[in-house]
Amino acid sequence: MNSGTLKLIIAALLITGFYTWFGNSIPQTAWEAPKKKTFTPQMKPSELAVEGKDIFKSAGCGVCHSVTGEKLRGPDLSQVSTRMDSGVMAAFLYSGTAVMPPAVKPPANLNDDEVTALVAYLQTLGGKASVKIGDIKPLK
Ligand code: HEC
Repeated sequence: MNSGTLKLIIAALLITGFYTWFGNSIPQTAWEAPKKKTFTPQMKPSELAVEGKDIFKSAGCGVCHSVTGEKLRGPDLSQVSTRMDSGVMAAFLYSGTAVMPPAVKPPANLNDDEVTALVAYLQTLGGKASVKIGDIKPLK
């Protein structure tokens, strides 16, 4: 083996070593399934609204609805609670419309507690949350 070959081997080892070190230095982020929140009837409407805000994001409502005054595919919801009460909001979420998918069907697939939290959040848009777990029930 001449010295040129040796240098090449050493260089190759150094480069591989560097990338191994570099790769391992990147923090590994484990993928975790989104945690299902547990809701209790003791939760205050304002606490539900905080959860509802997250659900609004994760359920994809923001794809069609702005809460800051913009017109997207659906109506802007920044003042929605001045236009409708919690029952009407729930009706939209349970039934959907011809142009809006029901929130209780895939892809959002929300359960009753999550719908209640979402309604609490919608109530804060132009008003104050007042619903608690148990107040919002599926439509008959
Ligand atoms: C694919 C687009 C789309 C998605 C996703 C969607 N909506 Fe809608 N939504 C609409 C449209 C369009 C309307 C208007 C109703 C109609 O014309 O039938 C509407 C109406 C509403 C209304 C009544 C507003 C009003 O002022 O009349 C509420 C409340 C509402 N949506 C909430 C939600 C929430 C909360 C979510 C998330 C779970 C959601 N929407 C997801 C399109 C969507």
